[in-house]
Amino acid sequence: MKEEVLAGFGKVFGETEGVKAYFAPGRVNLIGEHTDYNGGHVFPCALTIGTYGAAAKRNDRKMRFFSMNFDNSKVIEGSLDDIDSSRNAGWTAYPAGVVWAFEQRGFKLDTGFDLCIYGNIPNGSGLSSSASLEVLTGFILRDLYGFDVTNQDLALIGQYSENNFNGCNCGIMDQFAVAMGKEDNAIFLDTADLSFEYAPISLKGAKIVIANTNKKHKLTDSQYNARRSACEKALSELQTVCDIKGLGDLSPEEFEAHKDAIKDDDRRIKAKHAVYENQRTIDAVAALKAGDLTKFGQLMNASHVSLRDDYDVTGIELDTLAEEAWKIPGVIGSRMTGGGFGGCTVSIVKDEAVEEFKEKVGKAYLDKIGYEAAFYTVEIGDGPTIL
Ligand code: GLA
Repeated sequence: MKEEVLAGFGKVFGETEGVKAYFAPGRVNLIGEHTDYNGGHVFPCALTIGTYGAAAKRNDRKMRFFSMNFDNSKVIEGSLDDIDSSRNAGWTAYPAGVVWAFEQRGFKLDTGFDLCIYGNIPNGSGLSSSASLEVLTGFILRDLYGFDVTNQDLALIGQYSENNFNGCNCGIMDQFAVAMGKEDNAIFLDTADLSFEYAPISLKGAKIVIANTNKKHKLTDSQYNARRSACEKALSELQTVCDIKGLGDLSPEEFEAHKDAIKDDDRRIKAKHAVYENQRTIDAVAALKAGDLTKFGQLMNASHVSLRDDYDVTGIELDTLAEEAWKIPGVIGSRMTGGGFGGCTVSIVKDEAVEEFKEKVGKAYLDKIGYEAAFYTVEIGDGPTIL
């Protein structure tokens, strides 16, 4: 893709001298969903699919953006003197938001830039195309302007821009997984303090298979922000009876002992998910380290059930994919991944069952939902790179 994105840049911006090519991955979360804004654990990994970019500095204050993903693409222009006007400019609000977030931290760009991107993460799949674009932009800015920031800073800057420029109150998981990815490893991250360790994923005879619901209309942002508020309110109620900073500080036993402090049934059940999912994530990583993939898979399944019944973020599309997957003996575990309401499931499937999985789950999905799901076998890749 390096040549393609460089050629795309040359065609649109008419120059090739000094232009460099870059890549940032997408991510999939193996377990630990809706825990990252509750100070809990997550266990995502970067993928080998992601976003490619070619970029060069300009001599003036313009920012020019071009995406090779859309047939009717045109160059979209912004200005360093009026970054705010890029807020509602479609996809360019993500790279512009990262420029804005850098400037908020005191990193001023002396000139503008041209940026051409191409992404191969399926659109709206919940595999973090936006975090990939944010981290890609931050990585490019660091390289072009010599900003002194770490990859972890790139994750925080990306999240800051998404929260404050793009209006989604997301946690740190996606940007962290993208910025800190490591081939063949998942990242066991404690979102309470950003301490983390890499855990090698050696699936010996099994693969990670993503199934995409292809669901179009999602109300993700408003629903997501509503879940987050419910957890925050539940936390403040629990803080009247215990000394905690986040729901992730509670074990399931401690939660059971104090849950009556939460005065609303729905909030109590949402908080329960956050607490139990955090414990499942800790247990799943321990199982993986002990070589017990069967237990890891069971915890993935239990995670889906909790997201379906308690957290209420799945929907018939994701449930159909997961529940049909569970029927296949070669499926070690299957669950929704990411924010939910659409997007993808992630499954660990034995090599010999992958074709059967795609065929049977695909057919049952089409019969029930009326349109097709898409399947991809993915590999765990590195964080951002210069190509
Ligand atoms: C989205 C958000 C993440 C995380 C997940 C749910 O992907 O961007 O921060 O909250 O949903 O686990």
